[in-house]
Amino acid sequence: MKRIEGKIRIAVIGAGGISGAHVRGMVEHKGLVECTALCDVSEENLRKRCEQLGHTPPMFSDWRKMLREHGDQIDAVDICLPHHLHAPAILDAVAAGKHVLCEKPMCTSLKDADLIVAAVKKSGVIYMSAHNQLFMPVVQEAKKMIAAGAIGRIRWLRSQDCFMADAQGMAGKWRANANLQGGGELIDTGYHPTYRLLYLADAEVAGVRGTMARFHMAIEGEDTASVQVRFSNGAIGEILTSWAFANPIGTHQIHVIGEQGQIFGSGNTLNYLPAGYAQPAVMNLKQVDTFAEQMLHFGQCLRTGKRPLHSTEEGRQVLKVICQAAKDAAGWQRYNTLAGKPKKKGRA
Ligand SMILES: NC(=O)c1ccc[n+]([C@@H]2O[C@H](COP(=O)([O-])OP(=O)(O)OC[C@H]3O[C@@H](n4cnc5c(N)ncnc54)[C@H](O)[C@@H]3O)[C@@H](O)[C@H]2O)c1
Repeated sequence: MKRIEGKIRIAVIGAGGISGAHVRGMVEHKGLVECTALCDVSEENLRKRCEQLGHTPPMFSDWRKMLREHGDQIDAVDICLPHHLHAPAILDAVAAGKHVLCEKPMCTSLKDADLIVAAVKKSGVIYMSAHNQLFMPVVQEAKKMIAAGAIGRIRWLRSQDCFMADAQGMAGKWRANANLQGGGELIDTGYHPTYRLLYLADAEVAGVRGTMARFHMAIEGEDTASVQVRFSNGAIGEILTSWAFANPIGTHQIHVIGEQGQIFGSGNTLNYLPAGYAQPAVMNLKQVDTFAEQMLHFGQCLRTGKRPLHSTEEGRQVLKVICQAAKDAAGWQRYNTLAGKPKKKGRA
């Protein structure tokens, strides 16, 4: 890959909700990256991003036209589109020789994931999965402590993200449509605890079990998922994720138990409890903007040619766990509490 010497010129594709956090990261690291194009079908969202940037880059409503007509001003694209558009936008950008930062999920099917893995490999561009929660202080510190042997071999770990969402907030939008979303909550918010779990476990996945439910959201997919992951080194992983209730009280975003102790915490607060101790040591870590860290990491990878923390392979691996969990949970709609009482007995 040819290293980029000057400012890295990024085109944002999809200027909706989360692109605001990506642009915030660009503004924070304006010495390293700059936005040289915006693409969205919504003029209102394009205007919002321009206000945030403080300048008006060339704007497009079609990313193919943008890549064709303005490609010489673009080193990389930052894709913040609805899920069903990730694969086509990634493949078009890679074919045009652009580096890619793409929001989660990488795509919605393993077939598309294979196409993306192959296309990125062939082209030699850098692909970074926008797994911003890898940059959470507790995740980074726990990863370092595990690698340093603070808790010994991992036996059990858990990663979760639950909150009560507005029941009608997604009605009529792409997230409510299972095809456009690629499923329900698990491939959306649940994607974060899934990659965090895989990152911390750092082991081959040997098996996945899943259970799903829809308790209150007006969407076609599930709003809650409970997933169990068997790792080939024997460790047991659990993911809990929901738009229908808050994190169970007293639990944490990450919790890892090893043969010599436990590490657990949320946000900036990490607890370390060596085996045999009654009270954990509490670490208050420095707060970070995970989106700014993500943009910095992307820019540095393009500058140095370094592989991003998570690229296509990890994007595919996370999607595979989600697809396996959804397959195992098949039939959960029988228990759709929005639709009334369960019709049949059986495993969900
Ligand atoms: N990392 C996080 O914490 C986080 C949080 C929210 C969303 N996300 C991810 O970000 C992505 C976008 O989610 P969002 O909440 O910003 O959605 P959104 O609906 O707010 O924004 C999507 C944008 O894409 C635009 N768009 C739709 N079709 C288009 C097309 N054909 N061409 C150009 N633009 C088009 C829409 O007009 C809209 O502005 C998703 O992948 C989602 O999972 C990540």
